[in-house]
Amino acid sequence: MLHQLKNDFTQIFGSNDGIRAFFAPGRVNLIGEHTDYNGGHVFPCALSLGTYAIARKRNDSIVKMYSKNFETIGMVEFPLDELVYDSKHDWANYPKGVMKTFFEHGYFIDSGIEVLFYGNIPNGAGLSSSASIELATAVMLNELFGLQIDMLEMVKMSQEAENKFIGVNCGIMDQFAIGMGKKARAVLLDTQSLNFTYSPVKLENTSLVIANTNKRRGLADSKYNERREECERALSQLKEKLSIQSLGDLSIDQFEQNKHFITNETDRKRAKHAVYENQRTIEAVKKLQQGDIEGFGKLMNESHISLRDDYEVTGPELDALVEAAWQQEGVIGSRMTGAGFGGCTISIVRNDRMQAFIENVGKKYTEKTGLTADFYVVEIGDGAREIEFE
Ligand code: GLA
Repeated sequence: MLHQLKNDFTQIFGSNDGIRAFFAPGRVNLIGEHTDYNGGHVFPCALSLGTYAIARKRNDSIVKMYSKNFETIGMVEFPLDELVYDSKHDWANYPKGVMKTFFEHGYFIDSGIEVLFYGNIPNGAGLSSSASIELATAVMLNELFGLQIDMLEMVKMSQEAENKFIGVNCGIMDQFAIGMGKKARAVLLDTQSLNFTYSPVKLENTSLVIANTNKRRGLADSKYNERREECERALSQLKEKLSIQSLGDLSIDQFEQNKHFITNETDRKRAKHAVYENQRTIEAVKKLQQGDIEGFGKLMNESHISLRDDYEVTGPELDALVEAAWQQEGVIGSRMTGAGFGGCTISIVRNDRMQAFIENVGKKYTEKTGLTADFYVVEIGDGAREIEFE
């Protein structure tokens, strides 16, 4: 892979003198969905798939970027003093937004750069290809310019770039998982305090498998923002009666005793999901640590049901994949993952049933939706970093 990218770089930029290589993974969330902007817990892990950036400094102040994933867009070029959103620059707005955020935080980038990007995360599948290119950029800038920024700060700046420059109001989960991920581990993050612990994902004779609905996630961003607003309204009504900072502060009992203060029925359902999902996530991690994979899987299923019925972010494609999975022998648990409205599911499946799972779920999904699903058996990888050419 790196050898090929080195050749590509030479072809595109004329030589490969002084190039360095960087990688940032994609992420998959095992449980704790739509809790990160509600002060709750999430339990994601970094993937072995991700975004590569091959880069070097220039002697002037021009930035040149090329993506092998968007060859029709061609070379994107802009001067360092013109870090403004430009729809013609398409994908390159993500790295540009990170550069701008670095400047705003006082990190000085004193020359132009040239970068070749390549990603093998399926695009728009909800595995965070955008946060992945953001962190690949952050790590690249940090190393090329010797900025010595710690990873958590880069995670926060990448989220800020996405919120302010791109205009997507995401929580911190994706950037955090991609920056801080560790091989063979998932990370339990309290999104309110940012306290976190790593937990080994020991699945015995089972594996994690991602299934992509291949449904375009149209309207996803506006629906996402709508869910945030519904939760914020619910929280502000609860705050009139209770001294809490976020929905994540509530136990299930406290929620049940106080839910009548939320006057709008839809807002109440959204808040219910946020509270129950947070508690479910804490519970699920305990089960995993005790080696109770079956217990973990049951909570994954409950998570999906709550996202389907109370949070209403699944839709026919995700439901079709998950329901087909639940009917298969050897499936320990299955749920949608990420923002929803299309994108991917994550399942735990017994290794000896994996082939049958992929065949049967794929077939049932096509029968029901007319779409074809893609399957990826997950390898949990390390977070964003510089990598060496072999
Ligand atoms: C998207 C957002 C995350 C998180 C998930 C839902 O991936 O980027 O911050 O809110 O949706 O859990």
